[in-house]
Amino acid sequence: MDKIIIFDTTLRDGEQAPGASMTPQQKLEIALRLEKLGVDVIEAGFPVASPGDFKAIDLISRNIKKCIICSLARCIRQDIETAANSLRKAKLSRMHIFLATSKIHLKYKFKKAEDEILELAKQAVRLSRKLCADIEFSPEDATRSSRPFLFKVIETAIKEGAKTINIPDTVGYSYPQEIFSLITDIKNNVTNINKAIVSIHCHNDLGMASANSLSAVLAGARQVHCTINGIGERAGNASLEEVVMSIKTRNDVFKNLYTQINTKELFRVSRLVCSVTDFVVPPNKAIVGRNAFRHEAGIHQDAVLKKKITYEIMDPADIGIPESQLVLGKHSGRHAFRERLKSLGFCLSQVQLDKAFERFKEVADKKKDIFDDDLRMIVEDEIRVISPLWQLDSFKIQSGTKIKPEAVVILNKKGKALAKTSFGDGPVDACFKAIDKIVGCHGKLEDYRLESVTSGKDALGQVSLKLNIKNKIINGRGLSTDIIEASIKAYLDAINKMSSAHSFH
Ligand code: KIV
Ligand code: ZN
Repeated sequence: MDKIIIFDTTLRDGEQAPGASMTPQQKLEIALRLEKLGVDVIEAGFPVASPGDFKAIDLISRNIKKCIICSLARCIRQDIETAANSLRKAKLSRMHIFLATSKIHLKYKFKKAEDEILELAKQAVRLSRKLCADIEFSPEDATRSSRPFLFKVIETAIKEGAKTINIPDTVGYSYPQEIFSLITDIKNNVTNINKAIVSIHCHNDLGMASANSLSAVLAGARQVHCTINGIGERAGNASLEEVVMSIKTRNDVFKNLYTQINTKELFRVSRLVCSVTDFVVPPNKAIVGRNAFRHEAGIHQDAVLKKKITYEIMDPADIGIPESQLVLGKHSGRHAFRERLKSLGFCLSQVQLDKAFERFKEVADKKKDIFDDDLRMIVEDEIRVISPLWQLDSFKIQSGTKIKPEAVVILNKKGKALAKTSFGDGPVDACFKAIDKIVGCHGKLEDYRLESVTSGKDALGQVSLKLNIKNKIINGRGLSTDIIEASIKAYLDAINKMSSAHSFH
């Protein structure tokens, strides 16, 4: 049996998705989940890009013991030294060095000749190898590079000590047969390729990232770069859950190949990434979408009840998708609550548990039936918030067909209550304007989405929004059985994120 190494880049390429930026603490939270999931490598960031990225890699290096922690660098001395420094505390470390090799990049990005690029790659891998034993090299835009030059660069990188050669389809331009022939050609033409592991890194611009990655595996690649929920630069990267479940489900095609992923963790980590990034998984998303295992047509429902295999190629339990069941109500006690959370896979500190229980009681007062989905949202919502600067105390709105909507909002800041009144185009707008007056900033709303996240007429409503504050886009998310309250919480969530980064308070 051959192992397919899962290289997770949710925290690096995934974070490059517009609006997906994460704090070091949030990155650590995801890294801990990725470790439980069983990924082999965690690419934790691009440390020269920002002090926050450096801090995140350092934090992850100190806390993760079972995965290789990888740090990204261009072929520049400062990048390489910074990457090596960011990994100082890692038990298992890798440096990932990249340099574009396509004519398009050479001409327009670098204005350099092939010889100069070859020399840069050589020197960079040589330097990196002195600082770290495990070097991965990526010829960026490999799929649009001239093959003879690409082979030469790869050969040089391996000669200088690169142990993994990663082939990026940087702009998501390729289709599966092309990827198959590229990997085959690399294996047949790079003389020292047997000294390295061939890896694949696909983007999803034409919706083929997962298919292309799997095609590379069939051609002999033994490492796949992927991200949870397929998030990443532009249209995203190959989705980890799709790649892993394809290899597992189609073992007739991927003969003798396996990953060490604990697939039962897939659903939980998917929802954690949604919650941290405020990116919603489309309902029809393969493997982890809300509808991925729902059967609507009567004929399908009937057949599935008779024999699941008629319309289900995977068992939802293998992905960790829980049966939605009625679990708790307002009379449930702390013990039942803790046990239920344990069975859902949450492991909370006493403080987190107390906060989540308090919130559960509030929701249970308003919502008769509490389902697993409700619990998951409550907990993720609670443990995500780290002592926000601005907190909602209360609000009152007046709205109707013949009156101009008006809101009174009271916020708490460090124990002090501050109130303002405002009119607006609608009740939500009036609340946002009142908040702007209290906080003293004006956020431009770029996107606003409301969805019901659980079942029933009294379902929890989740508001996700994007706020443009001083030309920076910040995501906010709020959860409540009351959609105005969910909107206010989402708005405050964005403001609080901004407050922790800048100071307008
Ligand atoms: O898409 C790409 O080429 C990359 C490289 C850094 C590997 O992300
Ligand atoms: Zn990429």
